[in-house]
Amino acid sequence: RDAALYSQKRTISIGTAANIDAFHADTTYQTIMGREFNILVAENVMKMYVTHPDIDTFNFIQSDELVNFARQHGMQIEGANLIWSNQVPAWITNGGYTRDELLGIMKDYITNVVGHYKGQIQSWIVVNEPLDTDELNQQSIWERIIGPQYIDYAFRWAHEADPQARLYINEFNTELVNEKSNRYYALTQSLVQRKVPINGIGFEGHLDITLQYPYAQLVANMKRFANLGLQVQITEADIKLQNSPHTLPEKFTQQATLYAELIHACQDIKQCTGVILWGFTDRYTWIPNFTHHPDQPLIFDNQYQPKPAYTAIKKAL
Ligand code: XIL
Repeated sequence: RDAALYSQKRTISIGTAANIDAFHADTTYQTIMGREFNILVAENVMKMYVTHPDIDTFNFIQSDELVNFARQHGMQIEGANLIWSNQVPAWITNGGYTRDELLGIMKDYITNVVGHYKGQIQSWIVVNEPLDTDELNQQSIWERIIGPQYIDYAFRWAHEADPQARLYINEFNTELVNEKSNRYYALTQSLVQRKVPINGIGFEGHLDITLQYPYAQLVANMKRFANLGLQVQITEADIKLQNSPHTLPEKFTQQATLYAELIHACQDIKQCTGVILWGFTDRYTWIPNFTHHPDQPLIFDNQYQPKPAYTAIKKAL
């Protein structure tokens, strides 16, 4: 594994989201993923709409494939995610369940999924994107029917199902000090104070080269969370070129600098466990579907050639 992106001297892990369609279609995808990274997270197939597609059905076929691959390649696994406003199966959103019924469903689901992977999944994103759930017009059914206590319940049940797993909360647009990250801080602080079994705080890192990310502020922000006594992690990094003329070498250099800063920030914070990228090749990235613009946010191009961002990360590690 001499060519691996991470090195033996690393102090942090480096991971990637795995896209199941790419994984099935493309052996080059598998080869690079198994060689370069030491954490794997399923991009979609461990989410509730896949794992619990019907009231009396659990489905681990695709997630097991990725878990087996990760184990064979010596990668840790991060489970993503248990409770989110999005990608919830229709039987829940259309089910008209009462608060007690939904709590029962949630407990059964968390117990089954975390139990299925007990001892195999080192960390779980237990609650994903709890803030501003109506921002993307997807108000959380969990929050609406259960109330804000759904977060506490989710962490407690996940902890009961696998006491060894590290349990994370995760949020986007909270990398810097701003109004949203202040609310994220208040939320996580209150979880800690109420002794909810949370171990870590995720910052997604969906960034964009056209915005400014002052390095000192990135570090300061993550440090204040780490000072709550929790681990921190960059969980879904990708760096959009947005509408910039993306073929300009200069844009790729800016992107590389920003990737390296994420790595350095994590290295600078002793509670930071690693940086996970939301994919690794521009051939398979969720960004164009999401922004409706072509983009090249990842570290290999769509022909699997390493970009300046790859080199910058390797140098940083
Ligand atoms: C995204 C996937 O990448 C897409 O394929 C899917 O259509 C929607 O979800 N924040 C998260 C991730 O926490 O789970 C999301 O993943 C991206 C935003």
